[in-house]
Amino acid sequence: MEHAYTQASFKDYEDIPGLDIYKRAQAHTDYLNYLKENDFMNYRLLATSGCGAKIELAEEGYIKKGNYISFVCNDYLGFTQHPEVKKAAISSIEKYGTGAGASPLIGGYFKFHKALEDKISTFFKRPLGSTITYTTGYTANSASLLSLLKKDDIAIVDMAVHTSVYEGILGTTTKRFLHNNTKALEQILSIAHDKYRTKMVIVDGVYSQDGDIAKLKEIVEITHRYGGVLLVDDAHGIGVIGETGRGAMELFDVLDEVDIITGTFSKTFGNVGGYLVADPELITYLQFQSRQYAFSAAATPIVAGVNRAIELIDEEPHWQKKLWENIGYYKKGLQDIGLDVGTTESAIIPVKIGNIQKNCEAGKLLLENGIYTNPIMYPAVSMKDSRIRMSLMATHTKEQLDKALNVFEYVNKKLDIAKTL
Ligand SMILES: Cc1ncc(COP(=O)(O)O)c(C=O)c1O
Repeated sequence: MEHAYTQASFKDYEDIPGLDIYKRAQAHTDYLNYLKENDFMNYRLLATSGCGAKIELAEEGYIKKGNYISFVCNDYLGFTQHPEVKKAAISSIEKYGTGAGASPLIGGYFKFHKALEDKISTFFKRPLGSTITYTTGYTANSASLLSLLKKDDIAIVDMAVHTSVYEGILGTTTKRFLHNNTKALEQILSIAHDKYRTKMVIVDGVYSQDGDIAKLKEIVEITHRYGGVLLVDDAHGIGVIGETGRGAMELFDVLDEVDIITGTFSKTFGNVGGYLVADPELITYLQFQSRQYAFSAAATPIVAGVNRAIELIDEEPHWQKKLWENIGYYKKGLQDIGLDVGTTESAIIPVKIGNIQKNCEAGKLLLENGIYTNPIMYPAVSMKDSRIRMSLMATHTKEQLDKALNVFEYVNKKLDIAKTL
């Protein structure tokens, strides 16, 4: 008989009817124990080195202590380890100390915060005053949307947007449209036409699980034709997509047409935090009305490293070039094995497996052979869409990519992952 847990996922433990918090936690622990006993516990692995193309893991369960070729860091250009970025962060700590001490409204707004806001506005070719920063990329979406969209407004979202967007639209009317389907978007907009105060269309630039790109040219045109406001979260596109790394908006030449841009410092910028770029009056509104901004301490001085990372995107374009060489090489290598990498056009490379159990086994075999990836399952993707998710970096060497491809070939022979499609 098939084990009760084989098709289970974390979603099943989110809210179990009739169980109080302790009983729910117990049921959740039982599931985690199943994952551990079967060597499927690929979450919260303890790393003893920094983020990078190679990561040292601590011994735990079936994981052996040692170096792994890593595809789990969204540090696309390798800037978490760039000497100039580190230097900027360290000198900011030396000058300002380790914390901001208060929320930006009540004493926690320092020169390095203002410098960062200005740098981001300029990066996106917007006037100064066009940027607000948050302490996570997640809250740049969730907290700003919670304060912008109320029940008389409507959020029209691509069904594949990041979970932070879904959290941000809990207080407003919501319609989801089929992923990247501009006809479906237009249909919803035409029905919503005069019924709501604000009609906000929300899409990602690059989608975080499939790595595909929003059809921004059409989306901008349709949204504006129906009087909507367009928000693009390009967390995964900045530094990667577009001739000068300004993301999917640059690729489609709509950088100045997107009404609201959100993004993160935790990927290409090698830090932690997030930003929202918009009309300066809207930014001022958020500074006072967005609770996560007004009632939560500001970013630490380390965030000054982001300023240097942003400059390096322009000063050292060879990182972006190298990243794209790696993307082309690795993607082709996986396809040559017969694996399905889906529709990716970015540094996010999925290998689609489908079956949850097989996906767990693939993650385990990869780790056992020195390759550290993320097995992704429901609810992050749909039930039948489990995959191994990888982020490529400019700092991956050809030898590392070749080793990973060899291991994928071996995993495919063992599990027939190419045949389950
Ligand atoms: C598309 C997208 N938006 C926002 C976020 C949240 O960013 P952060 O992890 O910096 O909070 C993520 C994180 O993975 C993401 O993929």
